[in-house]
Amino acid sequence: METLIPIINRLQEVFLTVGAEVIQLPQIVVVGCQSSGKSSVLESLVGRDFLPRGSGIVTRRPLVLQLINVPPMKERLKLINKWYGVKAEEWGTFLHCKNQIFSDFNEIRREIESETDRTLGENKGISPEPIYLKIFSPKVLNLTLVDLPGITKVPVGDQPEDIETQVQEMILSFIGNPNSLILAVSPANSDLATSDALKLAREADPDGRRTLLVVSKLDLMDAGTDALEVLLGRVIPVRLGIIGVVNRSQHDINTQKSLEDSLKDEHAFLQRHYPSLASRAGSRYLAKTLSRLLMHHIRDCLPELKTRLTVLSAQYQAQLNGYGQPVEDYSATLLQIVTKFASDYCNTIDGTARYIQTSELCGGARMCY
Ligand code: GDP
Ligand code: NA
Ligand code: MG
Repeated sequence: METLIPIINRLQEVFLTVGAEVIQLPQIVVVGCQSSGKSSVLESLVGRDFLPRGSGIVTRRPLVLQLINVPPMKERLKLINKWYGVKAEEWGTFLHCKNQIFSDFNEIRREIESETDRTLGENKGISPEPIYLKIFSPKVLNLTLVDLPGITKVPVGDQPEDIETQVQEMILSFIGNPNSLILAVSPANSDLATSDALKLAREADPDGRRTLLVVSKLDLMDAGTDALEVLLGRVIPVRLGIIGVVNRSQHDINTQKSLEDSLKDEHAFLQRHYPSLASRAGSRYLAKTLSRLLMHHIRDCLPELKTRLTVLSAQYQAQLNGYGQPVEDYSATLLQIVTKFASDYCNTIDGTARYIQTSELCGGARMCY
């Protein structure tokens, strides 16, 4: 996703300069059964360890995670801006503890856990009330990710009798938003045909224009079986694509295996077991695919920007003409720079998009987001 950062940052500047609304990137929402690997998938997208993960119900409130791109610390310290005082490269803040800066990501995880316990007790209760977390980093896109409690059927602990309906309604309220990109997470060791993640995603997105299927736990399939047919889209086709991943196991979490090592091992696993698909699977490929989908979204926003620039350009020209006099010197105005810049970027993005449409296949399906 990092390659998109400079493009998006500069486009946002152009949008702001011409007074257009900044580009609203879709929010990415994970959906799936309890312990299917949703939190793990989100973590690998962000590239940092900070989400509570584990067997059983761990995520008990929605977590709305807003990623915010900031300049690297060296540059930041030169600026007198509101983050002037923060001496960390990456940090987080919570809505519920204003003014507190978390630069230790382990503490972010602990705060999510204790805030969950504070409002819900420790006995597995759930709530639709989100926890809002912002992560500031030079390495992230301005993007919102939503982690949700998993679909579950049988109430345990403090959970109400109608836990299944409650969780489903909570999920639908997030993925019903047409600006949500749905990551339906389904473990490879359970039958895709009965995937509740896909079922809910279909309910919110019947045409499948904004649903991507992530097949987790490729490493946990029964001996003698594999997910090749599923990954090729031959069992259930998914329009935006089907991407298999291997996240860290519970043992890996307990022994604090790093995300980096996990990505390496995932790659080796895919090479060994799915050589024909290895370049179209894995967490890195998932991140790349999301970048492309976001790129398509940006491309769709550009016509508005172009129109806006043309109108403004005409207005300024009229104003300049009105002055009559030696305004020629000023004709290299900001606007022209902006116009040139935007057209360069439009070309780049159009080009990329065309390239993607003609040459990139994803899980056997053409991307159409
Ligand atoms: P969530 O409940 O859907 O958010 O799932 P988590 O991310 O908390 O993961 C649940 C459990 O499954 C944890 O113990 C993870 O270590 C484990 N897990 C998740 N994905 C994988 C995977 O791809 N392979 C293996 N072996 N374990 C995984
Ligand atoms: Na879990
Ligand atoms: Mg979770």
